Amino acid sequence: MTITRIQTQPIDGQKPGTSGLRKKTTVFMQPHYLENFVQAIWTGIGGVKGKTLVLGGDGRYFNDRAAQVVLRMAAASGATKVIVGQNALLSTPAASNLIRKRKADGGIILSASHNPGGPNGDFGIKYNAANGGPANEQTTDRIFAATKEITGYDIVEAQDVDLSQIGTTKLADMEIEVVDPVADYAEMMEDIFNFDALSALFKSGFRMRFDAMHAVTGPYAKAILEDRLGAAEGTVVNGTPSPDFGNGHPDPNPIWAKTLMDEMMGPDAPDFGAASDGDGDRNMIVGRHCYVTPSDSLAVLAANATWVPAYADGLAGVARSMPTSRAVDRVAEALNIRCHETPTGWKFFGNLLDDGRVTLCGEESAGTGSDHVREKDGLWAVLFWLNILAKRETSVADLMKDHWATYGRNYYSRHDYEAVDSSAANDLVASIREQLETLPGTTIAGETIETADEFAYDDPVDGSRSEGQGLRLTTASGGRIVMRLSGTGTEGATLRVYLEQVETDPAKMGQDPQKALASIIDVAQSVGEIAKRTGREKPDVIT
Ligand code: G6P
Ligand code: ZN
Repeated sequence: MTITRIQTQPIDGQKPGTSGLRKKTTVFMQPHYLENFVQAIWTGIGGVKGKTLVLGGDGRYFNDRAAQVVLRMAAASGATKVIVGQNALLSTPAASNLIRKRKADGGIILSASHNPGGPNGDFGIKYNAANGGPANEQTTDRIFAATKEITGYDIVEAQDVDLSQIGTTKLADMEIEVVDPVADYAEMMEDIFNFDALSALFKSGFRMRFDAMHAVTGPYAKAILEDRLGAAEGTVVNGTPSPDFGNGHPDPNPIWAKTLMDEMMGPDAPDFGAASDGDGDRNMIVGRHCYVTPSDSLAVLAANATWVPAYADGLAGVARSMPTSRAVDRVAEALNIRCHETPTGWKFFGNLLDDGRVTLCGEESAGTGSDHVREKDGLWAVLFWLNILAKRETSVADLMKDHWATYGRNYYSRHDYEAVDSSAANDLVASIREQLETLPGTTIAGETIETADEFAYDDPVDGSRSEGQGLRLTTASGGRIVMRLSGTGTEGATLRVYLEQVETDPAKMGQDPQKALASIIDVAQSVGEIAKRTGREKPDVIT
């Protein structure tokens, strides 16, 4: 087999965002686009010669083609071995697990997460390091720098590798091991949770609906929930991965998982509902007539962790991204454990987990996880909830009531303004930045602003500093507003406005969040002049 050196030129805009490089599928399918970026990854990580990598993706359109390119380029650059999920499928947490379990040097994950797929959708690629987690900023900076200097890439000329059969094969001198994508992951879940209690729960008639949203978690959820734990057949819906996610938007939130939400709010609602995203790292939790926000979910998992065998000895600490509500902070305080606040992006949890400072972490963007892998993990969160419900013999709604009565309630909502003109969005951010110094002490919409700043993070483990991580205001009444621009969009800019209000009055735990947050929303509108600057009367998405 011959290795060919293809001459190429730098392609603009190959800057990894919050989670790898994410672009329109058509952009990725342009000549040399994927190849340039893969070669830049090799450069950014110091080459792949002699290394073992893990490879898999969420099965979206172009996943199979891209996997073959990665294999041919890994072989050309001297990788020793690539461990690939059958049919190039691996959920993101399963890939993270494989990297760790097999002591690989790193891995390539092909996914644009919760973004729609298909020829008109999005595609993405990211590199995870030997700890199983997303590459840190130093690495992604090196990769980006390499995309700007690239002059050529190396690729083996060969037929496609058959990835449909489990077993070992070769491409040039490189070994390729095709593995069952589910087996190792299912084994790990069994080590973490009380599977006997979960089986007994389903045996007792507990009804559940898991919406895999035509994405990668279908086979995982079926194998674990239905085959292993005995949940009724049909518990998992939309369970066959499809390249365009059934023409849907695989983002587990009340808007995109509306069918599930309707069922859970309906007269014959099951006891428990859950959904996951394109690559299986996000989760949505919803009880009968009771939606749980991701921020509350993190707080509940922290408060109840010792019900789960793997966390029976308690938690080293917890971490949340800065815009995530401070509900978990109240739990951490009660448990007398550390609570870290990091910028948005799972990669920031890696050092804290590696250093043993935290056991659980989570984000408002529907991500929760622990030190079992270095990614957020959708199905893990679902099993965690089931474990708690089984052991506490309670319902989601009663558990939430109990939680709020104990810790208070952090009313929370996120308002997104999508595909906003980029310069208008940047101007909006700049104008708030200019007001930061003068805002404290002023009263807007009846709320007195207490603090106003821009979040910067000093990593306590490696000492690195990340600046410009979101603008935030707090109010004297216990409210908080965070505004930042999304780092995962592929069209214009997305303004995210995160709204929070703490309530400790037991009589006020059952309000509609949008009502409880009304004055905080007014403050955000006024400080950001959102309607005027974005030209939008209301947000495109409210979660
Ligand atoms: C991805 C990352 C998360 C992040 C989310 C939202 O899912 O893995 O860590 O919270 O994107 O990021 P964004 O920049 O769009 O708010
Ligand atoms: Zn995802």
